[in-house]
Amino acid sequence: MMFTLITGASMGIGEALAHEFADKGHNLVLVARSGDKLRALAKEIRQKRRVEVEICVEDLSEAESPTRVYEFCRRHNATVGVLVNCAGLSHAGDFDLIPFDKLEEIMMVNMMAMTRLTRLFLSDMIDMKHGVIINVASLGGLQGIPGLGLYSATKSFVMTLSEALYMELKGKGVKVIAVCPGFIATSFFERAGHNAANIRLPISGTDVVVKAVFKGLKKNRIWVFPTLIDTVLAFSQRAVSRKIVIRVASFFAAVKDGL
Ligand SMILES: NC(=O)c1ccc[n+]([C@@H]2O[C@H](COP(=O)([O-])OP(=O)(O)OC[C@H]3O[C@@H](n4cnc5c(N)ncnc54)[C@H](OP(=O)(O)O)[C@@H]3O)[C@@H](O)[C@H]2O)c1
Repeated sequence: MMFTLITGASMGIGEALAHEFADKGHNLVLVARSGDKLRALAKEIRQKRRVEVEICVEDLSEAESPTRVYEFCRRHNATVGVLVNCAGLSHAGDFDLIPFDKLEEIMMVNMMAMTRLTRLFLSDMIDMKHGVIINVASLGGLQGIPGLGLYSATKSFVMTLSEALYMELKGKGVKVIAVCPGFIATSFFERAGHNAANIRLPISGTDVVVKAVFKGLKKNRIWVFPTLIDTVLAFSQRAVSRKIVIRVASFFAAVKDGL
């Protein structure tokens, strides 16, 4: 049976995508660490829609977790036709003060888990000549943001890998898209120690990202910028120096109080 696998489905953007895919009739495999939240979400979705929902509780910062997720899907006869790499985290503050375990965690979840899951499920998608990989990147991946440098770098990685795969997989029936939201109202900032009240741009709802994903897939886009402001910021970068780009991004993100 065909399934859509969503990492980071326990809350925020991943949860919103889970609802939308279920509304569209997709069976789901939901992945995150928060088992209780996944169970509650699965129950809610099953009550609303006649779809299968499997829960796979995993910590994606563990190197072997993507393999365990893949094996879970095999055990449950879940053929993954859509893979949504949404799990992610950040840490706000100076790079030299990031604890080493946090540094590892950010790189493992944002890059390694996404890469391994893509590699694992892609072979099956190529064999089926059908598949969709949705990678949740960030507007922050377009430049290094002081105070969010590691996070920005991991999201650049997601964008670069996604655009290469987009082309590489043309003609093989597999679509790849990188979604690059600006600021979205989730628990993401609080968890990262980034005071969202300081952010100098509008903060959108998760629905904006969901809509952008489906529009982007329909239009066969490589990268998707959910709001007009995201699009303007992304494209205006091309006309100015990198120093200005970084200063502007830093101003909007306002990672440090009083910046
Ligand atoms: N919010 C924004 O403004 C924004 C903007 C651009 C891009 N993004 C990206 O959007 C994605 C979703 O973020 P969000 O805003 O929805 O944040 P969120 O509400 O904090 O959700 C993050 C999700 O990632 C999961 N996750 C984190 N660490 C994990 C781990 N070690 N193992 C498994 N799952 C893990 C969390 O699940 P558990 O804690 O239950 O494990 C949660 O489901 C991220 O990739 C983020 O970088 C967000």
